[in-house]
Amino acid sequence: MKQFQPLVFSGVQPTGNLHLGNYLGAIRKFVALQDKNDCIYCVVDMHALTAQLVHEDLKEQTRSIAAAFIASGIDPKKHIVFNQSAVPGHAELAWIFNCVARIGWMNRMTQFKDKAGKDAEKASLGLYAYPSLMAADILLYRATHVPVGDDQKQHLELTRDIAQKFNLDFADHIRKSGEGVDIKVGDEPVHAYFPMVEALIDGPAPRVMSLRDGTKKMSKSDPSDLSRINLMDDADAISKKIKKAKTDPEGLPGETDGLAGRPEADNLVGIYAALADTSKADVLKEFGGQQFSAFKPALADLAVTVLAPIHAEMRRLMDATDHIDAILKDGGERARARADVTLKQVRDIVGFL
Ligand code: TYM
Repeated sequence: MKQFQPLVFSGVQPTGNLHLGNYLGAIRKFVALQDKNDCIYCVVDMHALTAQLVHEDLKEQTRSIAAAFIASGIDPKKHIVFNQSAVPGHAELAWIFNCVARIGWMNRMTQFKDKAGKDAEKASLGLYAYPSLMAADILLYRATHVPVGDDQKQHLELTRDIAQKFNLDFADHIRKSGEGVDIKVGDEPVHAYFPMVEALIDGPAPRVMSLRDGTKKMSKSDPSDLSRINLMDDADAISKKIKKAKTDPEGLPGETDGLAGRPEADNLVGIYAALADTSKADVLKEFGGQQFSAFKPALADLAVTVLAPIHAEMRRLMDATDHIDAILKDGGERARARADVTLKQVRDIVGFL
């Protein structure tokens, strides 16, 4: 029986500095997945236009994300690293998905509401259609697994809704094309062209929180730089930010239950666990009963040990512009060759002559 080939796809926007949330929620997982999977990692430069049209240095930002991927350990020869705009098929499939997705679905997207702010009438149409382009990114390669942070969960549910509606609406055409695959959605057998993607969100730090407020996500757009650790921060800055991180007056509990209702403690323990490739329970076995005055220096040392080599390699790569550009060009060509296969079939299924 024909099956979808397992394929990992994910993307990162070239907007602002990458931070520890991006690294632990996404990039570190990209690296871990590459040993056993075929992977495509994309710098989504077209998405970067949705919230802000004109960027000072979009090209530089695009290169810096590619540099972060490679400095973190992604092998661009074995896998594909490219920028989205190099493959026009993303826009073409997104258009078809704009016609598949319903306005009601888009209206439920919490990220749109957050990013559009109070005056949604003034938001760009691109920001509104953002999740449809994201679905196209993934499904253009018929990818099956998507490593992301927790904040992308709703977008991935929408990707599944779009895939499912396409599969049902075009069921007869998919059958005629001979390119469909028999899958089950719940208990229902479906003859599918697009797979039901699985979000890979688990791990000890699926949502890294601000160092200043454990109830807010660590984010590029937080006005306080003390709220986040940037991949480009040096050892001093990392140590300073961890030292200043908000905590409560109690010591660390011996078990994870004791983190309930203590968002700052939970966040720092989760960060430690993710950096050490272990679980929160194991971190608490080691540090339970200790004060933050002992835990914070250990966390700072670990963060510096993990991030300093990435930081140094990113800096080196950022000076080697030609090298990065060559990697992106090669990745773009290989991505395009794969995308063209899907697009040819999709055009046939939809009925384009
Ligand atoms: P972006 O660029 O905002 O973030 C990149 C990745 O970092 C994760 N992330 C976090 N994880 C944990 N804690 C945090 N505080 C945190 N902040 C960010 C995000 O979940 C993401 O995995 N829409 C996507 C980009 C995208 C994409 C795609 C992703 C476009 N097309 C296709 C996957 C597949 C975004 O804005 O990510």
